[in-house]
Amino acid sequence: MEARQYIIDDSDKGMFKVHRSVLVQPEILTQERKKIFDRCWLYVGHVSEVKQPGDFKTRNVGGRPIIFTRGSDGEVRAFLNSCTHRGTLVCRERQGNAKSFQCFYHAWTFNNCGELVAVPGQDAYGQNFDKRELGLRSVPRFDHYKGFYFLSFDKSAVSLDEYLAGAKEYLDLIVDQSPTGELQIIQGTQEYDMLGNWKLLSENSFDDYHVAPTHITYLEYLKDSGVDVSMPKGLLMPKHGFGKSLGNGHAMIENETYRGRPIARWMPMYGEEAKEEIAQIRRELTQRLGEQRAMRVAETNRNLLIFPNLVINDGSSVTVRTYFPVTEKHMKITAWAIGPTDESPRARARRLDSFLTFYGPGGFATPDDVEALEVVQQGIATWQELEWSDLSRGMMKKDEDQLNTDELHLRTFWRRWNELMTKE
Ligand code: FES
Ligand code: FE
Repeated sequence: MEARQYIIDDSDKGMFKVHRSVLVQPEILTQERKKIFDRCWLYVGHVSEVKQPGDFKTRNVGGRPIIFTRGSDGEVRAFLNSCTHRGTLVCRERQGNAKSFQCFYHAWTFNNCGELVAVPGQDAYGQNFDKRELGLRSVPRFDHYKGFYFLSFDKSAVSLDEYLAGAKEYLDLIVDQSPTGELQIIQGTQEYDMLGNWKLLSENSFDDYHVAPTHITYLEYLKDSGVDVSMPKGLLMPKHGFGKSLGNGHAMIENETYRGRPIARWMPMYGEEAKEEIAQIRRELTQRLGEQRAMRVAETNRNLLIFPNLVINDGSSVTVRTYFPVTEKHMKITAWAIGPTDESPRARARRLDSFLTFYGPGGFATPDDVEALEVVQQGIATWQELEWSDLSRGMMKKDEDQLNTDELHLRTFWRRWNELMTKE
C-alpha cells in the first residue's frame, strides 16, 4: 500500500486534519490489528465479574477468544480460549462457574487454573507427550489497576501502570465513589453493532461538540422535566467543562453535571423522595474524601477514553464500554454498568435506569450516536474526492484552556493512533 500521510497537525496554522481513507480502507484495519490491537493494553473485565473461584466469562478481546476466570487457587487469569490439542474453543458458554473446562471435540479437560488434567486414551501417545506443557495458554501480558483487568498480546509492552499514565487519576475518581472502595459490574450487558469505523466511536465518546445538535430531543425532554439546561448561544453544551490529554493517547472531558448523577447528585431528575438518601451519601463522601474531592466526585461528569477502545462514562450512571472492529465499517460494542458494591436498592435502580434509558442502545443518547456515526460512514464514501476531516477546534488555544466542546481530546487520540501506525 502506498505510504500516505494520515494526519496534518500544524499548530502554527491551528490546523488538524485526518485523512478519511483511514476510516474506510480495509488495509488500514489490517495495519491497526498489528500495530494497535496487538500492541496496546486492552480491557478484559472487572474483578467483580469473577468474584468466586471458578467464575468465568468468555470474551472476544482484540480479535481473540478469551476465558477470563478465577481459578480454584483464587488467582484471576486470562486464557486463550483455544484447545491445545487441535484448536477448538474450549469453553463455549458466555459465563458460569466451573472447576474445569472440557473441550467438546475430543474431551481433553483443563482445570480452572489452566492445567491439562485429563486426556482420553492417553496411552496412545508417545513418551514425549507431556500434559504439563499442554495446559491452556495464558495471554502474554495480564494485569489490573484497582480491579480493572487488561491484557496485552505484546510481551514487551510497557507495564499497565505506565501505560495508563494520567488515566489512573480518573479511574481513582470512580473507585472513590464507593465507601469501601469496592465496585461491582452489575449483571446485564448491553451489546450492539454499529455500521461505522471503530475510531468514530472513540471520537464520539468524548465529543461534547455534538451533544446539543445530535441529542436535542433529550435536552428538550430535560427542559420539559424542569432541569436547568439553559442553552447558551451557538447551541453548545449547557454547562461548560474542559478537555484534557492524559498521556499515551488517553484523554477525557469533565463538566459540571446538569442531569443528575449517581451518588449525591441524583436530584433533580429523581425527585424529592430521594433527598435524605442523597444527603446521607454526600455526608459520607465529604467525611471520607474531604469537601473538595467530594465535590469533584459528586458534582462533575467525566467521559474518559483509555486508548484505544475503552470508554468510561462517569455521568448519570457509570458505564464501562469497549468496542472492536469487525470490518473497517462495522464494530461490535459491549457496555456494562458499574457501581459501589453496597449501594441501596433505590440507588442501584436509578443507576440502572440511567444505564438503560440514557446510555443504552435503546436509550436517549445511544440511538442518536449510532445514527450520527453510521451517517458519517455513509458520507465518507466520498473520501477520494473529499479527502480530509477537520478536527482543529480550539487548536489556537493553550492546552489548559481547552473546553469540553473543543477537540484537543480527539486530537490526542489521533496523534497516538498516528504515532503507532507510522512506527515501523
Ligand atoms: Fe480439543 Fe481435540 S481439539 S480435545
Ligand atoms: Fe452522543
